[in-house]
Amino acid sequence: MSDPIALSDKELQETAIIVVAAGSGTRLGYGMPKALVPLAGRCLLEHALDGIELAGCASQVIVVLPAGAPELEERAAGHRLKPICRTGGATRNDSVRAGLDALRPETERVLIHDAARALTPPEVFRQVVLALLSGARAVIPVLPVVDTIKQVATDPGEEQAHIIGTPARGTLRAVQTPQGFHAPALLAAHRQAAGWKSPAAEAVTDDAMLMEMLGERVDTVPGAAAALKITTRLDLVLAESMLPLHPGKETPMAEPSNTPAPVLVPRTGIGVDVHAVADASEPRPMWLAGLHFPQDQGLSGHSDGDAVAHAACDALFSAAGIGDLGTHFGTDRPEYAGAPGTTLLTEAARLVREAGFEIGNVAVQFVGRRPKFAARRQEADAVLSKAAGAPVTVTATTSDGLGYEGTGEGVTAYATALVYAVPRQGNPPGKVPAG
Ligand code: CTP
Ligand code: MG
Repeated sequence: MSDPIALSDKELQETAIIVVAAGSGTRLGYGMPKALVPLAGRCLLEHALDGIELAGCASQVIVVLPAGAPELEERAAGHRLKPICRTGGATRNDSVRAGLDALRPETERVLIHDAARALTPPEVFRQVVLALLSGARAVIPVLPVVDTIKQVATDPGEEQAHIIGTPARGTLRAVQTPQGFHAPALLAAHRQAAGWKSPAAEAVTDDAMLMEMLGERVDTVPGAAAALKITTRLDLVLAESMLPLHPGKETPMAEPSNTPAPVLVPRTGIGVDVHAVADASEPRPMWLAGLHFPQDQGLSGHSDGDAVAHAACDALFSAAGIGDLGTHFGTDRPEYAGAPGTTLLTEAARLVREAGFEIGNVAVQFVGRRPKFAARRQEADAVLSKAAGAPVTVTATTSDGLGYEGTGEGVTAYATALVYAVPRQGNPPGKVPAG
């Protein structure tokens, strides 16, 4: 980590950072604004402000918050940076504009930053400010793209898109924040765009794009993996695993007054499920690990017999200490009778979260002669991870011809799960059951 850059008082006075934090966090699904979601004892907004404080390259910090979020306002106001707070709007663009309205007239450089990129290293802020001080009018942090990216189109009447092109990967970059601008240029761009109607207005997904559309050159600086945008629960797990690497954590932070740092103690769980292969006289589709295996005779049972998904559910319930499959999908919930394994897994994950836990991972191994699984393992991991909103991995083995798994009469699935109590704002951390 490099030292804070030595800006003159004048340069500091003329530099501002706007942190947009007015989103609702729908995809994260915590039932609270995303910026208020806790990560290792600090909310995402506080982490974002910590990085800005360590970067030390702006004198004015403006935070744009959702309307009616007093707890978030309190946390913002309680931060050592003492940011100016404004209320955001319906879209990110509206929120950026609300922040721009609070700029001091002498502002020469403004950085627009997403609170959702809570662990952005201070170095990235510094690089953006340095580029602006060197004369750039717009500058954004970028990372090379690892996936091949395709362009798609959907013809009228078609459900699935088809590929219409493959841009050369070497020319593509993933874009992060903070995005830095010559402040008068960005203000002018926003004034001009304010009159745009949809779809032109909706097509603008970041501030750099606005500058590009007005013919301004946009420069780049290196982004950082830690600056990932926390959008889903998986991102939150990833961010948590990055915390020890976050330079912000090298400097001790004052804990919010009278809020003890929560101790995260993981809990493990186990689940086992056995299903017989249905009699040949009764043809049934084979569903296992959320996938259909058309070559194989299916498993018996009143549900789809997906032993892998069922074992995963039981492991989750066991880890959270909230009963088992019978407790949650028994006769008093007839809507789940015969439901697909993935539906049960999604509901099990929801119940575990409702009980105050987040899911670390679920691992399942099934033992059986059929179906042949290796070629579809990754597909299964993806389908089940999506259902649980957390990493699920499936492995398979045979039993060397022994027992019902060996003869092909049935399969067994063994699952383990790891969960941890999530401290909720205003509540004690997790509702951890005894035992
Ligand atoms: N944002 C904002 N005002 C909005 C919408 C978004 O200030 N009306 C901010 C968010 O707080 C976030 C950043 O823009 O810091 C990027 O948005 P996104 O990651 O989509 O966050 P949310 O809109 O909160 O999430 P979701 O789309 O899942 O609801
Ligand atoms: Mg959003």
